[in-house]
Amino acid sequence: MNHHKLLQFQDQFARRPDLIHLNNAGLTPISRAARDKINYWAERFYQEGFWTDADYMADVLSARLALANLIGCQAQEIAWYQSTAGAINQFAFGIGLQPDDEVLIWDQEYSSHLYPWKEACDQTKAQLVVLKSEADLGTPTEKYLQALTKKTKVAAFSWVQFSSGARMDVEAVIKECKRRGIFVFVDIAQGLGIHPCQIWHWGADAVAGASHKWLVSPVGVGYLAIRTELAQKMKPRIFGAYTFGTCDDPSDFACEPKRDATKFEPGSKQVIEITALGASCQLIHDISVEVIEAEALRLAHRLRRGLESKGHELLNPFGKASISLMVNFLPTQGIAEVSVTLTTNNINFARRGGGIRLSTHAFNTDQEIDKVLSLL
Ligand SMILES: Cc1ncc(COP(=O)(O)O)c(C=O)c1O
Repeated sequence: MNHHKLLQFQDQFARRPDLIHLNNAGLTPISRAARDKINYWAERFYQEGFWTDADYMADVLSARLALANLIGCQAQEIAWYQSTAGAINQFAFGIGLQPDDEVLIWDQEYSSHLYPWKEACDQTKAQLVVLKSEADLGTPTEKYLQALTKKTKVAAFSWVQFSSGARMDVEAVIKECKRRGIFVFVDIAQGLGIHPCQIWHWGADAVAGASHKWLVSPVGVGYLAIRTELAQKMKPRIFGAYTFGTCDDPSDFACEPKRDATKFEPGSKQVIEITALGASCQLIHDISVEVIEAEALRLAHRLRRGLESKGHELLNPFGKASISLMVNFLPTQGIAEVSVTLTTNNINFARRGGGIRLSTHAFNTDQEIDKVLSLL
């Protein structure tokens, strides 16, 4: 059954023997379901213009539901953005930081996560406490918990760190933060769609991410999922018709913003990208994240074992524990030489975490992994 589902998933991707996708933590190819959705709306907008109005809005709602399903939240707890950075800005500037409050963050956070917090802290005179990762880029849960203080207002961290794949025991962190009354914000861009997500269920106050990584969707959509009780209290950063109602509501200076996360969307949306994301989320849900994760991990493990047996040095701490899809290594030939080898063979990769990062997805194959190994 699982094998059948895996084949169904793999069948959703273009098979190009000349291209090997191993920078999936950067950008994945999109699913056929997403591609078909793009074509569908492009054609309808071309043919029908305004006559698509109710239908495209309904499809954006379906996308909201499909994404909410993967996160485990309600559809109305989601706000669409153009990027993760936009979503994080809303939360960082909206949570009401005061002078002396602390925000606790790791030093290896992706910059779309780091900079909004830095700016929000600078503007409010709160303190951004930047915790140093271990020498091997590990992010020990204990170390993070010990750095929480009476002043910590927000624990802000990535579910999966972008450069190393490092992960904390998120459940334990959320539990401790809840006990102390600290808000928890998690950047889930590197986890949603590829690892089963229980972060909402464990009690995170808000999460954010992007379309173009493990959700196999086009670049250009960010999302914020935020608890409704928190959204109700939070002032939007940007305003427009949809903050208050719809494009058909008359202007009224006395009107109040909507009461759920949709008030953070000021106006018209990127319908094509959002509905394509919805199609991929539905696909991932139908196949099941567990099936997709298992295959991607199997391939990462094959790659890791092969690299080790050839004498390359594995760098990321979680690489050895076999729970990460990011395989960071220092090649014996040196980074520069291997970068050229991979590039000339159309194998994409990233230079991250002090070495080369390859990141596997369930659409990769044993043959692709073995080709990489044979070149190294
Ligand atoms: C942890 C993390 N968050 C967010 C993003 C994407 O940020 P944005 O959507 O602002 O480009 C990335 C992309 O590399 C990432 O690794």
